[in-house]
Amino acid sequence: MNLMKKMLAVPAAVLALWAVTAQATTDEAIAERLKPVGEVCIMGEECKGVETVAASAGGGARTADDIIAKHCNACHGTGVLGAPKIGDSAAWKERADHQGGLDGILAKAISGINAMPPKGTCADCSDDELRAAIQKMSGL
Ligand code: HEC
Repeated sequence: MNLMKKMLAVPAAVLALWAVTAQATTDEAIAERLKPVGEVCIMGEECKGVETVAASAGGGARTADDIIAKHCNACHGTGVLGAPKIGDSAAWKERADHQGGLDGILAKAISGINAMPPKGTCADCSDDELRAAIQKMSGL
């Protein structure tokens, strides 16, 4: 009877171990499969997936239109939160006139002003790229 118990216990332990190992492998496999979907892009940090998409779509350098469409249009397209609208040259000119011209409003766009976030959410935009986007939106 005692021997019988031992004989049963061993395969049971082996089976339990096997089950745990199998579970671990499955979890790893699932995690691996889920990885690309679960990746999060944080503003201001490098985001490989997005970069690749942008590079292949734009063929390299982004144009002012690309930047406006991706970053500025959300607010400047309709003028939410009091943002000067794209193409409303008078509104842009008035701002520029009060702030030392294009360079003045560029400086505000870089640092952010009230509801306007720094660099208009385009954290990796160069000053020149922002300037080009502002010129395009304002007609200045
Ligand atoms: C989240 C909304 C939002 C986004 C996105 C945004 N802006 Fe703005 N922007 C604003 C608002 C609101 C103002 C007006 C701020 C004020 O004067 O109170 C503004 C004002 C400006 C001004 C005028 C600053 C001044 O000195 O009067 C410039 C230039 C500008 N934005 C450029 C940009 C550019 C370039 C982009 C895209 C790269 C961009 N913005 C994206 C909301 C936004």
